[in-house]
Amino acid sequence: MTSRSYAEYEAMFDLTELPGSVLDCCAGGAGFTAEAAARGVDAIAVDPAYELPAAELVDTVRRSLPAGGAIVDEHADRFVWKWYGTPAHKDDLRIEAADRFLQDVSIAPERYVPGSLPELPFDDRRFELVLSSHLLFTWADKYDQDWHLAALRELVRVSASEVRVFPLVQQGAGEPVTYLPELLTELEGVTAEIRKVPYEFQVGADEMLVLSR
Ligand SMILES: C[S@@+](CC[C@H](N)C(=O)[O-])C[C@H]1O[C@@H](n2cnc3c(N)ncnc32)[C@H](O)[C@@H]1O
Repeated sequence: MTSRSYAEYEAMFDLTELPGSVLDCCAGGAGFTAEAAARGVDAIAVDPAYELPAAELVDTVRRSLPAGGAIVDEHADRFVWKWYGTPAHKDDLRIEAADRFLQDVSIAPERYVPGSLPELPFDDRRFELVLSSHLLFTWADKYDQDWHLAALRELVRVSASEVRVFPLVQQGAGEPVTYLPELLTELEGVTAEIRKVPYEFQVGADEMLVLSR
């Protein structure tokens, strides 16, 4: 589980203004939902980890903070620092985001819904914008092509307008996901676009997938 900040989400998804309702699907310990809600957005986060008892969730979020750094150290030549500047700035953003998340979960638990792809506990077209960071494609070593197709269809089902997914490469060395083009041909009734974003951390991972309906 990771804790990306609102600033990272803004850059990864090239967000300017947020619409009235947003879902962060596979939000983990991210601070995005707390910050979006503070800006008056109907923001909901979903993650299987939200089934954990509160103390265990706090512990998981805190213990996960150094794990991201370990992956970067292991594949140091596969990361660039032009967006973060320094490892210390990245760590600060993640710690702040984890704090923001944990504070918000305790005061507004209704915003944090337990659930897993490819079956989400929301009505069709419930959210104007659906964001998904670092689950699809990132975890292609764990989830196969069929799972990805089902997951993308489910994200589209709960969106009224747009789904954005970042990044489009696998975790660690950032290998491309070879079946991505085939997946896009299998999504019916959806316009798929791969769009550049003003964020890069894994080398070459500066594109998001935008699905519109
Ligand atoms: C690397 S974290 C990303 C968290 C957050 N989006 C961020 O960018 O910091 C991936 C998250 O996906 C969640 N996850 C794993 N399997 C999932 C599934 N099948 N459906 C939804 N979320 C899942 C994990 O619990 C974890 O919190």
